[in-house]
Amino acid sequence: MNRKPRLRPVKTFISAPRIRRRVDALAAQISRDYAGRQPLLVGVLKGCLLFLPDLLRGLKVPCTVDLMAVSSYRGDKSSGAVRLVLDLRESPAGRDVILVEDIVDTGLTLDYLKKSLAARGVRSLRVCALLDKPSCRRAPVEADYIGFSIPDRFVVGYGMDHDEHYRGLPYIGTLQKERS
Ligand code: IMP
Repeated sequence: MNRKPRLRPVKTFISAPRIRRRVDALAAQISRDYAGRQPLLVGVLKGCLLFLPDLLRGLKVPCTVDLMAVSSYRGDKSSGAVRLVLDLRESPAGRDVILVEDIVDTGLTLDYLKKSLAARGVRSLRVCALLDKPSCRRAPVEADYIGFSIPDRFVVGYGMDHDEHYRGLPYIGTLQKERS
């Protein structure tokens, strides 16, 4: 059956040009830090759908790309259970891995992914997150590269969803009340 959700208006929170400038700056910083190396970028689906390719385009170092996906526990945040639903195609052993995440909220997902990758003998592991909500943390993890630090606010767009919608917006926004 065709389910047609009622979509809510979105208010711009971080504009597309601001995102572009910041992602370019992150790519430049990573290129400097990884000069002479060939990092493995590991994107975390689906939130990395727009961020990862934009970051990749800006990198000046040769790199390879792989993907992972974890189950979302949203709606049941208290359980904190994270489950791997898509694993890497190649072993990351011996690689300089950069995990590319849309947002670090409670940090439970990142904590799980960091432990999972560290256990596979990576040479080094850093995290690049577009957004960080430091006030929401429940696991003691931090990203090494952060696009924007934001308050505890639910955001959509630029890869991030609400009920699988809004991912394709070129900006980051907040959901407004439904129009009656
Ligand atoms: P965690 O709470 O740090 O484990 O965040 C896990 C995932 O929840 C993130 O990678 C996002 O995909 C999603 N998430 C957290 N906060 C938001 C938000 O404000 N909007 C959309 N997705 C979010």
